[in-house]
Amino acid sequence: MLITLEGIDGSGKSTLYEGLKERLSDLDPVFTREPGSPYLGDAVRQATAENTDPLAEAALFVADHAVHLSEVVRPALAAGKLVISDRYTDSRFAYQQVSLKGVHPDPKAWLSAVHRGWSITPDLTLLLLIDPETALSRVSGRGEREHFEQTEFLSAGQKNYLERAGEEPSRFLMIDATLPPETILDFAEESIRLRIGQIK
Ligand code: TYD
Repeated sequence: MLITLEGIDGSGKSTLYEGLKERLSDLDPVFTREPGSPYLGDAVRQATAENTDPLAEAALFVADHAVHLSEVVRPALAAGKLVISDRYTDSRFAYQQVSLKGVHPDPKAWLSAVHRGWSITPDLTLLLLIDPETALSRVSGRGEREHFEQTEFLSAGQKNYLERAGEEPSRFLMIDATLPPETILDFAEESIRLRIGQIK
């Protein structure tokens, strides 16, 4: 079973991820993230930090995904593990659809084509939703901003997330990210346990 956490920067996704580690420890899940493959993860981070060519950046995110699947996700799923990933393919549909605008004639078609036939669709995706201004104010203290961390970018990215959720409503659970972290964690834990049929 593959469960993913998604949301724009500042939505509290990382707090949820860390909280779930404790809450779900009895299930011994594999916790993982994108970008995060051992060597490509660094290349991706460098590309985003240096504002490189958007297509190159998008291709790097896809390459990172491929390594993530082959080295982490597939083996874990094959071993019957529960996998929880902080960001996954929906992040590309949210963010790269924005960054590829004007660079590629149809970013969504490119992203769909480039994942088709080999990627794995999550069983459940928890999507944290938040007003982009509020989200940005939450990340503003974290030092230098990536080019993603601008209000217009994040608001377009969140619209793309919502479009994805509209296309696959049964996969997505939307969460109000302004709720108290404990409330979000309670809801997320319960939803995951319900989905995998392992009520405590
Ligand atoms: P990261 O430091 O992992 O941020 P976060 O804690 O918000 O997950 O940086 C990842 C950044 O890269 C984040 O701004 C989202 C973006 N991103 C994409 O644009 N495309 C992708 O496919 C992925 C996985 C992330």
